[in-house]
Amino acid sequence: MKNDLDMTLIPQHIAIILDGNGRWAKKRGLPRFVGHRRGAFNLRDISIECDKLGIKYLTVYCFSTENWKRPAPEVEFLMTQPIRYFKKYKDSLYKSNLRLKAIGRRDRLPKEFLNMINEVEENTKDHTGLTLTLCIDYGSYNEITTAVKKIAMECKEGSLNPFDITPDTITDHLFTSGYPKLDLLIRTSGEIRISNFLLWQLAYSELYFTDTYWPDFNKKELIKALIDYQKRDRRYGGLKK
Ligand code: IPE
Ligand code: IPE
Ligand code: MG
Repeated sequence: MKNDLDMTLIPQHIAIILDGNGRWAKKRGLPRFVGHRRGAFNLRDISIECDKLGIKYLTVYCFSTENWKRPAPEVEFLMTQPIRYFKKYKDSLYKSNLRLKAIGRRDRLPKEFLNMINEVEENTKDHTGLTLTLCIDYGSYNEITTAVKKIAMECKEGSLNPFDITPDTITDHLFTSGYPKLDLLIRTSGEIRISNFLLWQLAYSELYFTDTYWPDFNKKELIKALIDYQKRDRRYGGLKK
């Protein structure tokens, strides 16, 4: 199947809504956290595959601004699992060429979680391979509201003229400022919705939905999504080439 992939048409930036961990576990009679654990391992594998394929940016939805509504033990697990995971794998991460970033609200995360994010970002900032961005306590409404506040402050302070605000001004004030345009969004688990993810960035992205639960979304599934993407005719309002 990999032969059907056109290596000259690899997207620069893909995003994934990592969904279905809980259902993956339930189907097997296992507690939900086992699904989250498998999901974390899968993210590592898929990041390595994306890097090998030459994708430059992979942006993944890990925890939304709405996910705090879940039962406390699940939230607790989701806020501590990455810390255990990074402790275990940080040496190999630092030896790799992956650049890790986290975007989202920072004011509600446990201190230990924040420290880990800062440490990982600092230690991988000069890496030149795939930029893997974890969206944690992320929601598009919050991201856009934050951007609007920053723009309003600049106008108030006089460094920006309101008449000079363009779509690029907004793009440049989002958490993803400086990132290449989002080419492809993948959502696993069969849900056909965006759930407050990258609303502005998605304006002209291709969308791909699969019934596969995130822990089962392997290299073969990734290549299938990329082949599907390569068949799309991206017209941006123009006419077929
Ligand atoms: C995605 O899996 C991970 C998070 C949202 C944290 P879910 O936990 O949403 O799994 P389902 O959708 O209940 O199967
Ligand atoms: C979206 O998944 C958020 C993440 C994957 C982190 P949810 O499982 O929270 O989304 P809904 O509630 O089904 O829309
Ligand atoms: Mg879900």
